[in-house]
Amino acid sequence: MSTAIKNENWWADFYDDVFADVMLEHEVHDPEYEQTISFLEKELKVKLGDTIFDQCCGVGAVSMGLARKGKNLIGVDQCDSYIQRAKGNAEKEAVQAEFYTGDAFEFKPNRICDAAFNWYTSFGYSQSDEQNKEMLKRSYEAIKEGGMFALDFSNIIDGFMKSNPCKVIRRETPNGEVTLLHEYGMNVETGMYKQTWTFFSADGSKKVHHGGAKMYLPSRIRELLEEVGFINIKMFGGVKGQRLCTDSPRAIFICEKPKGA
Ligand SMILES: C[S@@+](CC[C@H](N)C(=O)[O-])C[C@H]1O[C@@H](n2cnc3c(N)ncnc32)[C@H](O)[C@@H]1O
Repeated sequence: MSTAIKNENWWADFYDDVFADVMLEHEVHDPEYEQTISFLEKELKVKLGDTIFDQCCGVGAVSMGLARKGKNLIGVDQCDSYIQRAKGNAEKEAVQAEFYTGDAFEFKPNRICDAAFNWYTSFGYSQSDEQNKEMLKRSYEAIKEGGMFALDFSNIIDGFMKSNPCKVIRRETPNGEVTLLHEYGMNVETGMYKQTWTFFSADGSKKVHHGGAKMYLPSRIRELLEEVGFINIKMFGGVKGQRLCTDSPRAIFICEKPKGA
């Protein structure tokens, strides 16, 4: 794979509409969408009318699933067009969901939430553990004592073991079929894994995006969560509640803000 991530804030121009159409419309493309919503409801221990913070909400696909089940959602994302899309969907369906454009390293919801989540590898984008921890701290501060937090990250051990780090995805989008070539590599010097996403659209155009995240082993993420103050950390390999194994594609962490914190 040819490439390097050019700047530290690569995410500021990485996320665009074609990425959202192909990767973030989970209701349309993810066969485990309903299971994801049920998993979050159960593990975040939320009930009707509770408020949940969705940190790095994208176009609000996961938020919307929870809002349809009677939860109040507060979402933040740095990409304004994603937030406009999320707001439009919430308005159309008349659910209780507020969405804000903002930087999740800094953003705090305007009230204390019952629970929070950070989903689908929206964490770990900096080489610096201290910077990455800032995002976890904002979720910790956002929730009540005894509230739960869920973090979904790639299981990097599965990534290490894959012999062919490249896949092709073909998806229907509102603008026609898009073919995505997703290439995946590792930078041993920086400790970041790097990804190249090449989108071939129906009109013949091609867009190439470079991004990546820190190669955090699940055990290191557990440590970071503990350093921020979370307790009772559980790990899963998927939203069916599978045990985390070497070949689980996801590493999902469920943890609690202690009472009296
Ligand atoms: C892989 S997407 C996942 C989106 C969403 N959580 C989901 O499950 O569909 C990562 C998201 O994180 C957002 N993001 C990345 N860095 C951010 C930051 N510092 N502040 C706010 N949003 C950020 C991106 O704009 C993008 O929407």
